[in-house]
Amino acid sequence: MPIKPAMVQCLLIFFFFLNQPVAAESVASYPEGWETWPIVKESMTLPADTVLPPDTSLFIQESVKAYNWINEGRGSALTIRVHPDKLEQYQSHGHYTDGPTVVAVSEVDGIIWVTEHIAGIAIYGSYNRKGEDVSEMHPTLDPDFCHGCHNTYQDICINGTCAEPVLEIFGR
Ligand code: HEC
Repeated sequence: MPIKPAMVQCLLIFFFFLNQPVAAESVASYPEGWETWPIVKESMTLPADTVLPPDTSLFIQESVKAYNWINEGRGSALTIRVHPDKLEQYQSHGHYTDGPTVVAVSEVDGIIWVTEHIAGIAIYGSYNRKGEDVSEMHPTLDPDFCHGCHNTYQDICINGTCAEPVLEIFGR
């Protein structure tokens, strides 16, 4: 059968759709060498049975609820490390230069939350310690979900970063 241009076109369209991601995929890339980045904060994801005071802000309530499944609901230490070239940028929440900015590492199950900046815009990803994309592992690891919190609460999360750095590295 002779191949007609219309058939080729059809096939191309078919392959285009075949190639579309159907599930979550990290947008930020895995930042090699994050293990040696300076620690700016040691924090926690809280256990599922945490009772927050009634006046806790919606932002904190949502953040606690989103990740209370970590470590089978028992909570985990969380280490926040900033790219060595971006410490000052992080302290002032930007303006951020291009490239990986900051990771939050869940110490128990080794999930690495990644925030990167491109043209001043924050993008997100979730990996394990082997550098494999885990954004499909749980709905709360989907970059769209990260965006929904980090880019919504803009009074707290400025330029896509949310934590108040507390450690001595900033001389406070
Ligand atoms: C419901 C709100 C919420 C969602 C969803 C969320 N985060 Fe966060 N994120 C926070 C809060 C709150 C902190 C500060 C934690 C602290 O200080 O202990 C934070 C901190 C971080 C940090 C440390 C740097 C900083 O200051 O922002 C990274 C990196 C990060 N998140 C990445 C992600 C990624 C990647 C996702 C999605 C897989 C995500 N976050 C989803 C609320 C959220």
